[in-house]
Amino acid sequence: MFATRNSLKLAARSFSTAVPLHSKVAVLGAAGGIGQPLSLLLKANTRISKLSLYDIQNTPGVAADVGHINTLSEVTGYSAKDQDGLKKTLEGAELVVIPAGVPRKPGMTRDDLFNTNAGIVRDLAQACAEFCPKAKLLIISNPVNSTVPIATEVFKKAGVHDPKKIFGVTSLDLVRASRFIGDKLGKVVDVPVVGGHAGITIIPLFSQVKGLELTDAERDALTYRVQFGGDEVVKAKDGLGSATLSMAYAGARFADSLLRAGAGEDVLEWAFVRSDLFKKEGLEYFSTYVKLDKDGVKEILPLPESISEYERELVQKAIPELKKSETKGASFV
Ligand code: NAD
Ligand code: LMR
Repeated sequence: MFATRNSLKLAARSFSTAVPLHSKVAVLGAAGGIGQPLSLLLKANTRISKLSLYDIQNTPGVAADVGHINTLSEVTGYSAKDQDGLKKTLEGAELVVIPAGVPRKPGMTRDDLFNTNAGIVRDLAQACAEFCPKAKLLIISNPVNSTVPIATEVFKKAGVHDPKKIFGVTSLDLVRASRFIGDKLGKVVDVPVVGGHAGITIIPLFSQVKGLELTDAERDALTYRVQFGGDEVVKAKDGLGSATLSMAYAGARFADSLLRAGAGEDVLEWAFVRSDLFKKEGLEYFSTYVKLDKDGVKEILPLPESISEYERELVQKAIPELKKSETKGASFV
């Protein structure tokens, strides 16, 4: 189902009718632009035994619709008006994916969404801390560089914080970088992307792609395109939102990585997590290569030694931006 990562094997697994493993996955914001296609892709994933959908509105219709897809997972859908709907959605969840919140319109930055989305993520994280404190949280709602620290602070306050289990989903940047380089190489390859998920905090590491040769002008243009790829979609949608379909694909791919790790596989992923890599600079979160296991993050790997001077400078420029966003998020809670 997902290009480059054992695509064919995974496709066969994802759409087979094999007996599913026992994993409950919850989606909060399931009736939205991302939530609906994401729920569809998760329904097709045979690792999932129970798919629990929640949104403030329209969830029963989405649940009834994806519930007709012929994988064996059970689907439930609750809205805000259902008594204990959020509790029923979350209890027993292994993974909670959160795309709840408003998207950008042309001219807005992701940080412009903070005033609305910070409260939504705080309240949903609070419910997760109460009803499924051991679940892994996958936060899609923007601004990710602030919403992840918000969720962390909520979990800390509730006394159930485990940094190994809270993830900002930056996988769309990896998917985009891979796609843009695919045109150049004529094949699909993984491209590492580190840092965060907003503008200059998104840092593609083209130096790490074997066989890729770029002129300085090509490198600058491709770096810019990955950093501001989200704006291309916002502009094209012309007021009707931001990336939803590519995000659903990237989110489902990331969720599958965590489910595979949960089932005992050794999995490597790129994710925005609590990290000591730039502790000296006062930074608490950074997206880098992480080894995953059944408990979440097993090990955070350092940046590759062989990254270019250009990429090192991008990392240095991103640090103050990341710091600002994480402080804003943490102090909100
Ligand atoms: P959308 O407006 O289409 O959908 C959001 C959904 O969230 C709606 O159905 C809404 O009812 C629901 N919602 C709002 N408050 C809620 C609450 N308290 N509980 C449960 N559900 C709630 O927006 P979208 O296009 O799906 O985007 C959602 C978020 O994802 C935005 O913040 C967007 O910026 C972000 N996003 C992130 C990435 C990324 O790479 N991390 C990519 C694309 C979009
Ligand atoms: C993206 O990168 O597409 C998302 O973060 C949505 C946005 O606002 O650009």
